[in-house]
Amino acid sequence: EVRARAAQQSAYAPYSKFRVGAAVQMDGQIFEGVNVENASYPMCVCAERNAIAAGVLAGARELQAVTVCTDASPPSSPCGGCRQWLYEFRLDRVTFRNRDGELVSYAPGELLPDTWDLD
Ligand code: THU
Repeated sequence: EVRARAAQQSAYAPYSKFRVGAAVQMDGQIFEGVNVENASYPMCVCAERNAIAAGVLAGARELQAVTVCTDASPPSSPCGGCRQWLYEFRLDRVTFRNRDGELVSYAPGELLPDTWDLD
């Protein structure tokens, strides 16, 4: 949570003003990410996806946990696209936190039932 909260300060969210910081544990290491927005709105990238991308770049593959920090109350939950990403890397648990100490936590099956896969 500390790493995700610190990362949140670096979020690039001039359009939505909704700043998001994520920290993921992959292969035992922690990687951070922030949301990066764009004037072409559909091109915005979520914090959790950027954190996973940082882990993949470092060679990590097993996603063990995800913590996402926002200022939303109640805490927000992952968008549909991120749910598909989280499924791809077979996460155990994703937790969303806010500054008031509120949290929501999800297991994989709750996030994306009847998942689409190439198999
Ligand atoms: N966003 C995230 O980074 N993670 C989430 O789980 C939800 C949404 C970002 C995308 C966009 O930059 C902003 O929040 C508003 O949707």
